[in-house]
Amino acid sequence: MSHILVTGGAGFIGANFVLNWFGTGATDGIVNVDKLTYAGNRKTIASLDGDARHVFSQTDICDRAALDQFLATYKPRAVVHFAAESHVDRSIHGPGDFIQTNIVGTFTLLEAVRAYWSALDEEARAAFRFLHVSTDEVFGSLEADDPQFSETTAYAPNSPYSASKAASDHLVRAYHHTYGLPVLTTNCSNNYGPYHFPEKLIPLIIANALGGKSLPVYGDGMNVRDWLYVGDHCAAIREVLARGRVGETYNVGGWNEKTNLDVVHTLCDLLDELRPKAAGSYRDQITFVKDRPGHDRRYAIDARKLECELGWKPAETFETGMRKTVQWYLDNQGWVQDVMSGEYRNWVAKQYAA
Ligand code: NAD
Ligand code: DAU
Repeated sequence: MSHILVTGGAGFIGANFVLNWFGTGATDGIVNVDKLTYAGNRKTIASLDGDARHVFSQTDICDRAALDQFLATYKPRAVVHFAAESHVDRSIHGPGDFIQTNIVGTFTLLEAVRAYWSALDEEARAAFRFLHVSTDEVFGSLEADDPQFSETTAYAPNSPYSASKAASDHLVRAYHHTYGLPVLTTNCSNNYGPYHFPEKLIPLIIANALGGKSLPVYGDGMNVRDWLYVGDHCAAIREVLARGRVGETYNVGGWNEKTNLDVVHTLCDLLDELRPKAAGSYRDQITFVKDRPGHDRRYAIDARKLECELGWKPAETFETGMRKTVQWYLDNQGWVQDVMSGEYRNWVAKQYAA
């Protein structure tokens, strides 16, 4: 069986990608390398336990020897690199882990892959792909009337998280230009959907609403994000992996620019319909809190390159994706309670103390 190597496949997007991969009739197995930080959850991919197509290892991407061993053993035809520290607020409290995983980890992975790829025969070298999953946050912040981010927008990262992702993007680019490594990079907007860790806006609001807690909206709630259903992101990655042009970057977005307040109102209204409170609306729990330092005002993606070159389009609208997501959280409270462990409670206490 041929394999692809996935990093971070126990996190939100990586796990969705791994689960969806086997649902699309793909014939490659997956070697799934994940450190299982607080954001990684083995239970998310438990349905694959005992499935010979999926090999999981709790491994840090900074561990060069382990990476060398996986590459030599499974001889993957591609690497899809999701592993990262991904939460902006955590990067503000403590940037060190972001530098280590996102920059040093990506560098370590690139070095291991370069050594492996260099030793392949000519045909395998030509067919090999390294797909790096990045973010729209590397482009910085837009004003209300600015055009959306395109693939040629200059990098201007504003948080320790986005700066570390920008650094990793530059390393990936350099490995193509200097060594000829066949890389692809995707820069995606905000994802939402099943298995989203409840420290990020959408799952946090759902969890707090159901728990009778306040729904914290930073600043004036008018910051804009461009929301993409996670299944659509995974489909885009599969397309880019299969048919993307080597050395190119592709923006992935949902054409769904919403203010944070709009998103929170949508969630409250869906919950009012699907799980009504005894009295009143979930909107009554909305609380405006201190803003995120350096909070980017607006992100928006121009995804026309991906649509024109590869024919990808998101299947979900904001309305259908949000409804599915709220229903998933209502149906999977066991998963949510499981991840809202001691470490999660420590984070909430630190972040929302004021
Ligand atoms: P996540 O935080 O939910 O998951 C990250 C995963 O990486 C976790 O399973 C974690 O255990 C693992 N990991 C962390 N450090 C590691 C290390 N040193 N070695 C091995 N594994 C490690 O993140 P996510 O939301 O699934 O994001 C996945 C990727 O997509 C990231 O690169 C992120 O920058 C990018 N991205 C995310 C979004 C989004 O909206 N969530 C949008 C655009 C891009
Ligand atoms: O744009 C892509 C990025 O989207 C990814 O690169 C990141 O990995 C991912 O975490 C996400 O970053 P954001 O900072 O945009 O996501 P988050 O869910 O943390 O916040 C979304 C918006 O909601 C942001 O404007 C901050 C705001 N917010 C967030 C939280 C947690 C609140 O108003 N209240 C909150 O409690």
